[in-house]
Amino acid sequence: MVSIQPLHEEFGATITDFDLTEPFTEERIQIILDAINQFSLICFPNQKMTDDVHIELTRRIGNPEVDHVRFGKTGEIDYFGVVGNVTPSGKLGSDASNTKFQRGNEMWHSDSSFREIPSFLSITHAYEVPGEGGQTLFASMRAAYQRLSEGEKQQIENLQVVHDYVYSRSKVAPVEPAHAASLPPIVNRMVRRNPVNHLKNFYIGSHARDIVGWDYNDSRKLLDNLLQRTTGQGHVYSHQWAIGDTVIWDNRCLLHRGGGYDADRWRRYMRQTRVAGLGPTLNE
Ligand SMILES: [Fe+2]
Repeated sequence: MVSIQPLHEEFGATITDFDLTEPFTEERIQIILDAINQFSLICFPNQKMTDDVHIELTRRIGNPEVDHVRFGKTGEIDYFGVVGNVTPSGKLGSDASNTKFQRGNEMWHSDSSFREIPSFLSITHAYEVPGEGGQTLFASMRAAYQRLSEGEKQQIENLQVVHDYVYSRSKVAPVEPAHAASLPPIVNRMVRRNPVNHLKNFYIGSHARDIVGWDYNDSRKLLDNLLQRTTGQGHVYSHQWAIGDTVIWDNRCLLHRGGGYDADRWRRYMRQTRVAGLGPTLNE
C-alpha cells in the first residue's frame, strides 16, 4: 500500500512503499501524476535508480526534454543533466567553470521557463550528496498566488512576461555565444492554471526579465515583489538530499534554488531528466 506523508504545510510529500524499479503500470503512473497535481513535489526515498528506469519514468509521463546546456554548446542530444560537481574524469572544485556556471541555480527559478515549451517536471535522483550543505530549496507560486488580494490577482491576470536565459545567467557567468544564440527570449503567461484541479499560480523566477508593455523598472518592482512574497519565511521547504532520493517537482508552479555547498570539500552527483510541457504557456 502506497503511503503519502506531507512535507510542508503548503506543498510537498514523501511517498514510501513505492519501488520505482517495478513496472510502470498505468495505475502507478496515475498515482504519481495525482500526487504531483496535489502536492507539486514528491520525494521517493531509498530508490535503486538506474538511467534506464529514470528515462522510462520520464517517457511514461511525457516528452523528455533535451539538456539545453550540452545541446546549446555542441548540438548533442542528451536527456540527462548532471547536478553537482562529479564528471567522468573526477570531481571539479569551486574554481571550475562548470561549478561557477551551476551557481546560477542558486537563484530562485523554474527549470526551463526560458524555453518556448517550458518544463513540466524535473526528475532528479541523488547518487552522491555532500556531508554538509547541498540542500535544494523550494517555494510554491500556487500558495503565494492564493495569498494575493483580489485586486492583485486581477492586476496580474492577463500579463505576459519575457523570460530570458542570457539575462539571468549573465549575472553569474558569461554564456557562450552558440549557447546564447540557441536560447532567444520568449514570452510566458504570468498566470497559469493547473489543467486538472484548476488551481492558479503566477509564473516567475530568475529568468523572468520584464513584463510585456511595461517599462523595465516597473516590471522589476512587480516581479521582485512577487518573488519576495513567494519565498519569504515560513514558505520555503529545504530538501536535505539523502543518497537514493528520487524527487519529482512541478515546474509549472514551484520555484527552487540550490542552497550551495563546498565543492572543494564534497562530491555531489545527481542526475536529472525533465518532462517537457505540453506547449507554449501562451496557448494554455
Ligand atoms: Fe533547477
